[in-house]
Amino acid sequence: MRLQDFALERFFARWEFRAEMILCASDLEGWPMRELLELAEPADRRRWDELRLGYTESSGDPALRAEIAGLYDHVSPDDVLVFAGAEEAIFAIENVLLGPGDHAVVVRPAYQSLAEVGQSAGADVSRVELDESNGWRLDPENVRAAMRPNTRLILANEPHNPTGSLMNRATFDRLVELAADSGARLVVDEVYRFLEFDPADRLPAAADALQTGVSIGVMSKSFALAGLRIGWVATRDRDLLTRLAAFKDYTTICSSAPAEVLALIALKARDRVLGRSRAIVTANLPLLDGFFERWAGIFEWVRPRGGSIGFPRLLANVPVQQFSEDLVGETGVLIMPGTVFGDTGNHFRVGFGRTNMPEALARLESYASQKLR
Ligand SMILES: Cc1ncc(COP(=O)(O)O)c(C=O)c1O
Repeated sequence: MRLQDFALERFFARWEFRAEMILCASDLEGWPMRELLELAEPADRRRWDELRLGYTESSGDPALRAEIAGLYDHVSPDDVLVFAGAEEAIFAIENVLLGPGDHAVVVRPAYQSLAEVGQSAGADVSRVELDESNGWRLDPENVRAAMRPNTRLILANEPHNPTGSLMNRATFDRLVELAADSGARLVVDEVYRFLEFDPADRLPAAADALQTGVSIGVMSKSFALAGLRIGWVATRDRDLLTRLAAFKDYTTICSSAPAEVLALIALKARDRVLGRSRAIVTANLPLLDGFFERWAGIFEWVRPRGGSIGFPRLLANVPVQQFSEDLVGETGVLIMPGTVFGDTGNHFRVGFGRTNMPEALARLESYASQKLR
């Protein structure tokens, strides 16, 4: 297996801990350890204090799996397999389900591993473009047109990285129908789920919608705990879970014991945890709205409908890669050029999940005033 460089991760490897302010992060402002532990029920606090640092259950701590199952309508704890982040889950799913002779359909743009891993495993991957002129929405008929007799997977990501778009219910139902009719499996990367700006927009989870549907979740984004490196797969297809568990024996074997306990504490307090995340994004978003209103004609912005990121376009006659390099050099503020996603439309990713976003945006605006007006 030969994997191409993961452009986004290589970009972050270069900049994430050098730039002063990250205006393109997709994760939410991480919880301070002390505040997270204050959320623990007494029994979980004891669990934390008395934790022994041995290996953990390969499928994930049963109590943690029960809390994860509680995020779904029809998923039981035994339908959950814990991974080291969503990234390991993606790696396992595509390696287990795709190989030479197989075909998958993946949206574009997308978090690179969603397309890359299957391709590197030898499968053919067709990309279906999201439509910027329609709020970066997916047209499910384009998915249908891309499907082949050997299509094994339809891979979506809702709410979407990098655009923050969210398909409507009719589109989701159509994908469910396409999967059910063809026997292809619907896999949805739902790492930004629960951060829909209008809760009425929340889609059913893939694992709830279809017996064979696969939901990918993680503590990093909506739950603001990226440092835990706890993610999961939820699916009612037990045969698939068994195959994924066997694959995991070659990657991480089991999760970090402290991370499992902290994830359990956070999920038990999920109303508080998600409330904090929603408060951060809903405070930051209007500032971006204001910025893009003031800069109409120079920047163009399709307002996201969920998650913590958006994908505006720089209309000025400057390549966004150069703009972002100059910006970080002069102001310490990092945006992410869309080229990292293979985009050629001069877009860039902004993130609004961090509490220093107002200051980072003010620096961007002051820089833009000097360079772009
Ligand atoms: C859509 C999507 N899926 C998966 C991941 C990986 O999440 P994690 O790094 O927490 O494993 C990310 C991270 O940015 C993402 O945006």
